[in-house]
Order: sequence, then C-alpha cells, then structure tokens
Amino acid sequence: MTDRYAVIGNPIAHSRSPAIHAAFARQTGQDIDYSRLLAPLDGFPATALTFFGEGGRGANVTVPFKEAAFRLATHATARATLAEAANTLSFSGGELLADNTDGPGLVRDLVHNLGAQLQRKRILLMGAGGAARGVLPALMAEDPLYLVVANRTASRAETLRDHFRPLGIIEASDYADLRGLKFDLVINATSASLAGEVPPLPPGLFAAGSLAYDMVYGAAPTPFMLAAREAGASRWIDGLGMLVEQAALSFALWRDVRPDTAPVLAALRTELTHTQA
Ligand code: ATR
Repeated sequence: MTDRYAVIGNPIAHSRSPAIHAAFARQTGQDIDYSRLLAPLDGFPATALTFFGEGGRGANVTVPFKEAAFRLATHATARATLAEAANTLSFSGGELLADNTDGPGLVRDLVHNLGAQLQRKRILLMGAGGAARGVLPALMAEDPLYLVVANRTASRAETLRDHFRPLGIIEASDYADLRGLKFDLVINATSASLAGEVPPLPPGLFAAGSLAYDMVYGAAPTPFMLAAREAGASRWIDGLGMLVEQAALSFALWRDVRPDTAPVLAALRTELTHTQA
C-alpha cells in the first residue's frame, strides 16, 4: 500500500512541497503519495488527527501551524523542543513525533550549497517571530563568533535572546542599534516582504565577502535581496535552497533514505524563473 504524507497549512495552494517530495520519491524509488491539506485557522489539530487517523504516516507543517504542531505531538526531538515549533510530524505506533528540520535545512543550504562558513563568523538574524525562532538553535550550533537577533519590536528579540542564551552567545537589538556593526551573514526571517517592505539595513552593515540570505523565495530577486545588494552585500540569495533542504531532511526521517537535493533544487529554480517569464 502506498504510504500517505501531506503538507498542512493555511494558505496551502501555493506550496511546492508536493512537487519536491514527488521528485525525491522518484529519485529514491520510494512509493509515497504526498498531498496538500488546508486546515481552518482554528482547526489544525482536527485536520492533522483526521489525516493520521485515516492512515497518514507523516506531515510537513507550515505557516501558521508550526507551534500548534509541536503542541499536538506526543513527543519531540531536542531541536523541535528548543524551537517550540515543528515543521515535521511522523505518526507511528500511535505516537506522534514532532521534529523541526527548518534550522538544519537552512544551515545545510548555507554551508553545503552556498559554501558559506559559519564558524567564527558574525551573523545577524532579522526578525523575532516563529521563522526566526525555528532556525536559531541550528545557527547557534554552528558556533558563530557572535549572533545578533534584531527586530522592529526589540522586546521580542530580547525574549528570544533570553530563551536561547543557554545555547551560546546571542545578543538582541533593535534596527537602530545595529549602526556601526558589521556582519558576514545577514538572514531575513521577517515577514516584511509580505507587505512589500524590507527591514532597514544601516550603512556599513555588510562586511567584505558577506552573504545576504532571504528565507522567503520568489521568481524574481526579493525586495530584501535588492536592498542588500544596494547596501553592499557581496552575495544575495533567496530561501529556495532552504525549502528543498528542509524537505530532504523530513523525507530522510520518514523514509530512511537521503535524497540528492541538487537536481531537485536546480529544476525548481528553472521552473520558478520560467514562471516569471
Ligand atoms: P513568522 O512566523 O513568519 O516569523 P511572526 O511571528 O508574525 O511571523 O513574525 C513576523 C516577524 O516579521 C516579526 O519579527 C515582525 O516584527 P515585529 O515583531 O516588530 O512585528 C517582522 N516584521 C513584519 N513586518 C515587518 C516590517 N514591515 N518591517 C520589519 N519587520 C517586520
């Protein structure tokens, strides 16, 4: 019997996860069915439990349900527990396991695909919502020289700093206080682009050779990528690689086989570019 998986979110129609997992399944010879599930904004638990009750083996969870997914699970990996959010659920033997592959997916894209080194580097994470929280443990585990979380509402950055301080060096800031600091890696984890906006990038923010990374992706360079180029970043990239890498880690967790992400990422990039044309 074909094993069933799904991605659950709201909205969900745009999700590329079914295409990514179908490509992984073809490549590794796995027999899976992976669909999209729209959950009502106040109805994630019912949607997820119905899916698993009807035989679903695993699910990816996306905005705005990652915290709800963590709470619904019967147990969780250390990285999901640290993030208090899950993007991956596995159902087996009546137990629901929560995991979070967003952070490791981001780090794998940065290090493996983009050749960025994180050890002893200066990292700025912009945003202090769920997206930032989900990737912080993985970034801190890379042992950066320092890591600053900057947010429009400084108190939210301070809350994250206090939560993650046991893991390593982490500072909190508002955007104005970034003046005078330089970074090797600047990651945009805000949802500002949904409103066509970009967090302010003070002059001199980007060190020589620095990389600007937007966790969202699009057919064209994102507003953050354009602003980073203008502000002196050496390289700028969107989050398509993170999307594919977090999916590969979920797939490996479910199927015990690691897909080759490079051809899937390349095909997705071509497809996206053609969407724009
Ligand atoms: P998510 O789960 O996507 O992270 P969230 O928890 O609502 O969503 O967090 C959104 C993040 O984007 C926050 O850091 C938010 O800043 P505030 O905490 O100050 O609200 C940030 N954000 C949203 N719109 C922004 C904008 N126009 N400029 C700068 N930051 C913005």
